[in-house]
Amino acid sequence: MQLSASTNIPRHIAIVMDGNGRWAKRQKRPRLWGHKVGVEAVREIVKACSALDVECLTIFAFSSENWKRPEDEIKNLMGLFMMALEREAKALARNNVRLKIIGDISQFSDKLQKKIKQVEEITSKSNGLNLIVAANYGGRWDILQSVKSLARKMDQEKRNAELLTEQDISSHLSTSEYPEPDLFIRTGGEKRISNFLLWQMAYTELYFTDVLWPDFGKEELHRAILDFSSRQRRFGKTGDQVVSEKQGAVIADDQGSG
Ligand code: IPE
Ligand code: IPE
Ligand code: MG
Repeated sequence: MQLSASTNIPRHIAIVMDGNGRWAKRQKRPRLWGHKVGVEAVREIVKACSALDVECLTIFAFSSENWKRPEDEIKNLMGLFMMALEREAKALARNNVRLKIIGDISQFSDKLQKKIKQVEEITSKSNGLNLIVAANYGGRWDILQSVKSLARKMDQEKRNAELLTEQDISSHLSTSEYPEPDLFIRTGGEKRISNFLLWQMAYTELYFTDVLWPDFGKEELHRAILDFSSRQRRFGKTGDQVVSEKQGAVIADDQGSG
């Protein structure tokens, strides 16, 4: 799986890290073990994305639907989240990674909320990879909270609803400061979005793999990026249009530098 100088590296990669439970089951270990090894996989993928100068990596850690899981699994996941934040904060800052949590964190314990704020603060000066962790996140929740804050603002400013634009909604989403994902990866074999970044993924390239999350490493990431790089993103245009625009850009570039 060799990346080359001509590989098109996505600016923003979004990942549904699925399959921890099944991975543990195969090892005849409790589900928590799968989640623990899953955290190690996160570390490797963060490192690999930093090395490739990816701008943003968004990972789905806990969905708004995951509250339906057994109480002890939820407790374990929260404990693991807390531990990972405690353990990784300094290393993230040292590696120039900026951490941001998206999702409704008001449902978490005070202690966890405090820790989240603290690690965001510790890494706020970083200008390398943006690591965006979606926790108690749902794509519909995000659209709803965007529309709510937009509605409040419009009320105050007495603005006419007819003047609302897509950009208004985008700019109130929890991801407003980042570009939209270029590449979506889901591990674990399921082919669904599970209420992840719904609005933001309107034109994202989708990549599904059967590899379970704890087994997903640098090689697997490179495989996904190579697949992405081989695709033609048309955004509604024809293939010929995209090719000739690219040629035009290359010529303009050559003239600019010559
Ligand atoms: C993904 O792995 C991690 C979380 C949802 C927190 P799962 O726990 O969903 O693993 P499977 O799908 O049961 O194998
Ligand atoms: C999606 O995985 C959420 C996370 C990876 C955190 P799930 O395992 O919860 O998704 P479904 O329920 O199979 O769609
Ligand atoms: Mg799952």
